[in-house]
Amino acid sequence: MRVYISDLSKYVGQTVELRGWVYNTRSSGKVKFLQVRDGTGFCQCIFFRGECDESSFTEFEKLTQESTVYVTGVVRAEPRSPGGYELGAKNLEIKHITENYPITPKEHGTDFLMSQRHLWLRSKNQHAIMRVRSEIISAIRSFFDGRGFTLMDAPIFTPNACEGTSTLFETQYFDDKAYLSQSGQLYAEACAAAHGKVYCFGPTFRAEKSKTRRHLIEFWMVEPEVAFNDMYDNMDLAEQFVEYIVQRVLTNRADELKVLERDVEKLKPIKTPFPRLHYKEAAEIIKKENPEFIIGDDFGAPDETIISSKFDKPVFVHHYPSAIKAFYMKRDPKEPESAMGCDLLATEGYGEVIGGGQREDNLDLLLERLKEHGLKQEFFEWYLDLRRYGAFQSAGFGLGLERTVAWICGLPHIRETIPFPRMYGRMYP
Ligand code: 4AD
Ligand code: MG
Repeated sequence: MRVYISDLSKYVGQTVELRGWVYNTRSSGKVKFLQVRDGTGFCQCIFFRGECDESSFTEFEKLTQESTVYVTGVVRAEPRSPGGYELGAKNLEIKHITENYPITPKEHGTDFLMSQRHLWLRSKNQHAIMRVRSEIISAIRSFFDGRGFTLMDAPIFTPNACEGTSTLFETQYFDDKAYLSQSGQLYAEACAAAHGKVYCFGPTFRAEKSKTRRHLIEFWMVEPEVAFNDMYDNMDLAEQFVEYIVQRVLTNRADELKVLERDVEKLKPIKTPFPRLHYKEAAEIIKKENPEFIIGDDFGAPDETIISSKFDKPVFVHHYPSAIKAFYMKRDPKEPESAMGCDLLATEGYGEVIGGGQREDNLDLLLERLKEHGLKQEFFEWYLDLRRYGAFQSAGFGLGLERTVAWICGLPHIRETIPFPRMYGRMYP
């Protein structure tokens, strides 16, 4: 009977067949150990001379890392083994012998590993990260699906900018110019007028000409938009959402976090409510530790770390100067120089994971903002229609999936959080 390693607990005492690849081998006279991986997990298969076929015992010596094997044996509970089960092997069938697998257990440089990404994905840590990523995606969907949101995905080809023109990816759309979407937000707003509570979740693109540990060229963003919410409702939603994701990963992906040696004690306190700071309060905190910081400027990565180091929960910063925020952000009528935007800074210096806020719902003000930002009105006529026909208060946010994965997994760099990262200076494989 062919089974998956992740299901071994159901087959204790039974003879099963595992199909997978050699992760590691070890021999010592009468007993040989094969660590096999099948994608769902890792399992130690033990070949005892006399208990397995004699030919399997001899063939074992041909095994190399990443060779393809089918192993038949009896499932045993073994609390000391990582998955909790092992296989008392009876038979080994070698399907393919791998020669010169480029990734060996020795240390490799990151550049080399990135060029071998298609193979590197098989390694234990990378496997664990992708399982956490998949769990986060599933948590994202169940959070919104369970709260009456309608999923309405935004297009990738767009005629207009959303997040400023400096990071736009220009491409050809037959005879016209198009840009790869930087954010689905403007479309999500149109959808919110049709469905009330919506979210979009897809790849977004930014031509960021810099190499940092937080930026990808192509990244996934989930963006809820709720008609009639204000900035404060938006923070309520965002903190419930982030708590939900973190707690679900802690529950469902504890084994993977262990593989990654993630200090889960740092994730457990992530429960609502999260602290909320006005930009000016945040700026004062930064200024004390970084005198170079100019109040009114956007925060750099070290500035975000100064803020997040003060709390054991993620922190909202709201009311940024409108001068440093996107054209669509509503200004607070009580303090017109501030935008009703709210970003969420993750703990432990992982930086901004959410950007969002309340939208400018006044047609005339929006027209002014477009001019100030040098954006051509004709491309935004459809968006302006949302203020012409049933203008409504609205708020939403975007959570960057890869930054969230890096944070929850405790990774120093964003490049390992997506199967095939697109970075400045790298598009292979
Ligand atoms: O703060 P941003 O630019 O916000 C927006 O795009 C809004 N239109 C979202 C909305 O209100 N619907 O981006 C949102 C998040 C950031 O907080 C960050 O997590 C992630 O997207 N992000 C990136 N992640 C990886 N690489 C990049 N280059 C990123 N740029 C933004
Ligand atoms: Mg932002």
